[in-house]
Amino acid sequence: MGRILVTGAAGFIGSHTTERLLADGHTVLGVDNFRSGHRHNLTAALRQSAFRLVEADVAAADAVDRLAAGFQPDAIIHLAALVSVQESIRDPELNHRLNVTATERVAAAALAHGVRRIVFASSAAIYGDTTDLPIREETEKAPISPYGAAKLHAEGLLLGLAAQGVTVRCHRYFNVFGPRQDPASPYSGVISIFDRRYREGRGVTIYGDGRQTRDFISVHDVARANAIAATQPGIGSGAANICTGRATSLLEIVGIFARHYPQAPAPRFEPGRPGDIIHSRGRAERAEAELGFTAQVPVAEGLAELIRVG
Ligand code: UD1
Repeated sequence: MGRILVTGAAGFIGSHTTERLLADGHTVLGVDNFRSGHRHNLTAALRQSAFRLVEADVAAADAVDRLAAGFQPDAIIHLAALVSVQESIRDPELNHRLNVTATERVAAAALAHGVRRIVFASSAAIYGDTTDLPIREETEKAPISPYGAAKLHAEGLLLGLAAQGVTVRCHRYFNVFGPRQDPASPYSGVISIFDRRYREGRGVTIYGDGRQTRDFISVHDVARANAIAATQPGIGSGAANICTGRATSLLEIVGIFARHYPQAPAPRFEPGRPGDIIHSRGRAERAEAELGFTAQVPVAEGLAELIRVG
């Protein structure tokens, strides 16, 4: 069983990844600065003796280095990030610090302490607003936000370590959804916003005609992909889309919520948001070929779980 250092462990994807690793029998050291993560996301994990949580800023000069020196991880899953595209536009410098500098710290710590593997939270945002669908890993990278640009740059920094014997896996997540996603901003993931509004008995707002589609992937599938990439033997370096390969429209999402909340007001339609893309869908085959990973949670099932557990 492995020793895994998880940065951003108290976040949405981090907490599910930590739980997956613990369920698989690994020992996990989580680190988080609680900027967008919450200790309560790890309530279940904190009951387990194989888990420890440390408060630290991954972008700080020697934080990850010290943690790696003490814990001697076999792998680092680097999920700590500035996660909001909108915030990266408002504060590009902070975006650089949290999405690029922090990744440099992780890379340096891995080299200094003989860490064999790094799994990195990249994003479909590196492809920008391409209309060349499905999005393949070879699709042109044309990020349209500081966030997307930073994720692409960070991928390059990490993949450079492969030449020095570190296995690096960059996971380009598509639209991840599930319990613990923060619905706080109007630009939070649409499913987290819809979930909160239905829960509060309010109707949702659809920007555009609702026929826009996304490749929505359950956070449980994402956590499993992270665990496979960090722990399964015989995996080489590379970048792969973490997606389902299927498109779901907002109207379908609303239809599923409406079945669970038959009393809810009908959705309100407003003009499409400027810059909104109509369709996005990834090609999922590379993760299957390189990691043996395919998404397993159908959107309707993932939504039913979200509605049940919150
Ligand atoms: C993602 C980013 C977003 C960024 C955009 C541009 C996330 C969660 N979102 O958006 O910050 O600006 O890429 O690259 O990473 N919608 C509604 N009603 C709502 C909320 C959203 O109809 O209350 C619509 C949006 O207009 C969009 C769709 O739902 O058409 C999905 O939105 P979102 O979840 O933000 O994902 P992306 O559009 O992929």
